[in-house]
Amino acid sequence: MLEKRLRNEKLKEKIMDASEAAKLFEKGMIVGTSGFTPAGYPKSVPLELAKRKENGDDLELTIITGASVGDELDGALARSGVLKRRYPYQTNKDSRNGINDGSIEYADMHLSHTPQWVKYGFFGDIDIALVEAVAIREDGGIVPSTSVGNSNVFIEKADKVIVEINTSQPLSLEGIHDIYSPLNPPNRKPIPVTKTEERIGTDYIPCDPEKIVAIVISDKKDRTRPVAPIDDISKQISTNLISFLKKEVEEGRIPNELLPLQSGVGSVANAVLGGLIDSDFEKLKIYSEVIQDSALDLLDSGKVVFASGTSLTVSPDRLDDFYKNFEKYKDKVLLRPQEISNNPEVIRRLGIIAMNTAIEVDIYGNVNSTNIMGSRMMNGIGGSGDFTRNAYLSIFTTVSIAKDGDISSIVPMVSHHDHTEHDVHVIVTEQGVADLRGLSPKERAKAIIENCAHPDYKEKLYDYYNQALEGKYKHTPHTIGKALSWHEKFLKEGSMK
Ligand code: COA
Repeated sequence: MLEKRLRNEKLKEKIMDASEAAKLFEKGMIVGTSGFTPAGYPKSVPLELAKRKENGDDLELTIITGASVGDELDGALARSGVLKRRYPYQTNKDSRNGINDGSIEYADMHLSHTPQWVKYGFFGDIDIALVEAVAIREDGGIVPSTSVGNSNVFIEKADKVIVEINTSQPLSLEGIHDIYSPLNPPNRKPIPVTKTEERIGTDYIPCDPEKIVAIVISDKKDRTRPVAPIDDISKQISTNLISFLKKEVEEGRIPNELLPLQSGVGSVANAVLGGLIDSDFEKLKIYSEVIQDSALDLLDSGKVVFASGTSLTVSPDRLDDFYKNFEKYKDKVLLRPQEISNNPEVIRRLGIIAMNTAIEVDIYGNVNSTNIMGSRMMNGIGGSGDFTRNAYLSIFTTVSIAKDGDISSIVPMVSHHDHTEHDVHVIVTEQGVADLRGLSPKERAKAIIENCAHPDYKEKLYDYYNQALEGKYKHTPHTIGKALSWHEKFLKEGSMK
């Protein structure tokens, strides 16, 4: 069994327990790990790092990943106090708590930027790359598991590489990766991806075997999250979005097979993608970050013919089946480094339809996806900015109200800006669709309030807009203090009503 997974004889000497490998880490180190939305992240060594701290070792680390990782990494290291600095995205309850109580420094950033920052040392030098793999080749090349993320860049830049060979991950994953790393400017060449399914690199991450200092054999499965059941409101959002896309096809702006689709994370995003199964669209393609359950359903149903991403995130219920029957997807999926899956150049060239979720949207089309009430970090911007700014069509979905109706997700002014009015083309809520393309700010305000706001808040939003319009400047009418008092009212009185 191990022969197939560790094909370099000499490297067998580097096999050790996770607890031994954990001793190679020192306080203050910068560690780059595999993992993206929690797939393909190392699981055994991080648990041993947490144990070291719990047993009194003085250990604090900076952790840089592809994106979110499972509880064995973010959760265990946050709870034990090992995690001191974190980039570029997380979704774990305990790391989020640490970020919000100030004990973990966090800079969330566009996921396509991270590899360049690592290459140029903006975070400091990477001491250790800790990556999960399904196999190590004879030449030292590393075959990643269910995600690529930034692993290729960490392996290239790190002084030392530690590999967790995960035997629960099927060896048949070998062949689905496509590793390509752009040169640094001024020598950078065009990235030759002109179609969703186009391969441009190697199916393994090149690695000098001399850099591999430890190999740990693990069999812990990806601890993905269960998918929330699709409720009626999310279904209505999906129906509204699909009607809008149909209209675009009828108007001759996009072909019937649409353009490559990117879909964000969360319950609404899952419902939106899921809704395509019952639609009339055929031969769809996905060019996204995460290939998740709804994308697999679309592949199963034949609606989607190819999916390119940087991670395969399958919910716990269907993970065993997925591992057993992975062969059926093998020719239809491709995992790329996030520097390519999220690359603005490729996104613009392919003409992606980007569909992401907002926490709140303001009447002029600015979007907050990250900070609840302006200061409580939820997850991070992730790849939503990479796609939104560069897509052919940038759509944001959101439920029109939150917290049982005490909050309107349409507000006069967002309490934190992630995506500006210049990047957002269309807003979809369960109430309807606002197509903002070509509209001035005043026209946008009317379209958003009229089509997307919940009836309980429409009048209030019109009142705000009409009062702001009485002010001196009429391009983007605002009464700043009043705009933000919406959030103050919720914080003080428990409702925006
Ligand atoms: N005001 C205040 N809180 C709000 C809110 C609003 N307008 N809208 C939602 N919330 C709260 C919810 O109540 C919930 O809070 P809780 O955790 O205390 O229950 C939380 O925000 C998440 O809302 P939920 O409806 O569960 O969201 P979701 O699962 O659909 O995810 C995002 C929505 C925005 C958090 C998620 O899509 C995200 O993290 N996006 C940013 C990253 C991204 O887009 N990545 C993909 C790029 S490819």
